[in-house]
Amino acid sequence: MQRAVASLPMRERGNHEPLNTLEQQRRHFLAAFRAVRGETERRAALLSPEDQVVQSMADASPTKWHRAHTTWFFEQFLLRPHAPDYRRLDERFAFLFNSYYVAAGPRYERPKRGLITRPTVEEVAAYRAHVDRAVEDLIETADQSELQKLLTLVEIGLHHEQQHQELILTDILHAFSHNPTHPAYDPDWQMPPYVGKSGFLELSSGIHQIGHAQDSFCFDNERPLHRVLVQPVKVARALVSNAEWLEFINDGGYANPMLWLSDGWNAVQQEGWTAPGYWEQIDGSWQVLTLGGLRPVEPQAPVCHVSYYEADAFARWAGKHLPTEQEWEVAARSGGLAGAFGIVWQWTRSAYAPYPGFRAAEGALGEYNGKFMVNQMVLRGSSLATPADHARVSYRNFFYPPARWQFTGLRLSDYPE
Ligand SMILES: [Fe+2]
Repeated sequence: MQRAVASLPMRERGNHEPLNTLEQQRRHFLAAFRAVRGETERRAALLSPEDQVVQSMADASPTKWHRAHTTWFFEQFLLRPHAPDYRRLDERFAFLFNSYYVAAGPRYERPKRGLITRPTVEEVAAYRAHVDRAVEDLIETADQSELQKLLTLVEIGLHHEQQHQELILTDILHAFSHNPTHPAYDPDWQMPPYVGKSGFLELSSGIHQIGHAQDSFCFDNERPLHRVLVQPVKVARALVSNAEWLEFINDGGYANPMLWLSDGWNAVQQEGWTAPGYWEQIDGSWQVLTLGGLRPVEPQAPVCHVSYYEADAFARWAGKHLPTEQEWEVAARSGGLAGAFGIVWQWTRSAYAPYPGFRAAEGALGEYNGKFMVNQMVLRGSSLATPADHARVSYRNFFYPPARWQFTGLRLSDYPE
């Protein structure tokens, strides 16, 4: 989705002039707010109202819900506590569009979001406009003594919204996968360019530092910067390709229980997996549903829509393993990886857990990441659906091991000879 990504003036020190004064920050975040909110609408604009209401499974949400929920986030965490004159457009929206913030009050059941036909798509657009005006007004008029605190909330709201921009695409693709007419989200969509590199990057074993070090934005789960011990290991420069995955399929990879974790083999049996998500064999050739509709599986393109279980089984079949998230970050910081960002998220064999010294953010926003730190696996990098300026080398994404509706792939690791 490379061409879908708006250039957004987020605060990345090193790329831009430092934001010296509060007034510069005020202008910067006003522009960033408009850019991010506009990008959500741009992504949704390719979808009909019917597209925007459907929910294809409990893990995926309707586009309309994403548009409303990201709006509620600003209302709940910025406007209600900090804009005394703010009046809600509809008080019932808080119940409908709170996702999982227990501290923010009761909420509608996640698996039934597709049943909420009212407010309509048009009414959600009006809700967005109502909140946009209030947030812009708050940024423009806030007293300097309050501004820093408010802009911190604006900033997390924007990064939150960018996460949902990715989900708009992954969730609608999942919905379209149920439609035998194979709808295209964007008929002109192209896979972003990717050129693989051969061989492995050997890491220097010993103590390395990982985590977010700068004072620029990051989520709480990326802190603190800390030391890790890297054992002798080498990380593949390339992502695993469709051609390699086809070898795995043709070698009976999906039929050989010896290659699979026990839970993974159960998933293969229950789900009937014989290929990555959205793959279909038509007249003997493999096709895949993409954002551009049904396309032939390109042998040289990185494999996508594989679960952790599949990534793990593939690695075992290849006589290798997945890198830990620490190894991935050390390798990525060295600059030696092809496709580290912007193609597919890469599964690691690290369980999603707090870093040593982790502290969740205070208040309701402390629920953002910390409470999910069990039973999920970490993915690193970013995908073709991630807004480009949302990606960071320290970014930790996380999903349950069977999930494969995200743009997920892998790169391998091996032990040095
Ligand atoms: Fe959210």
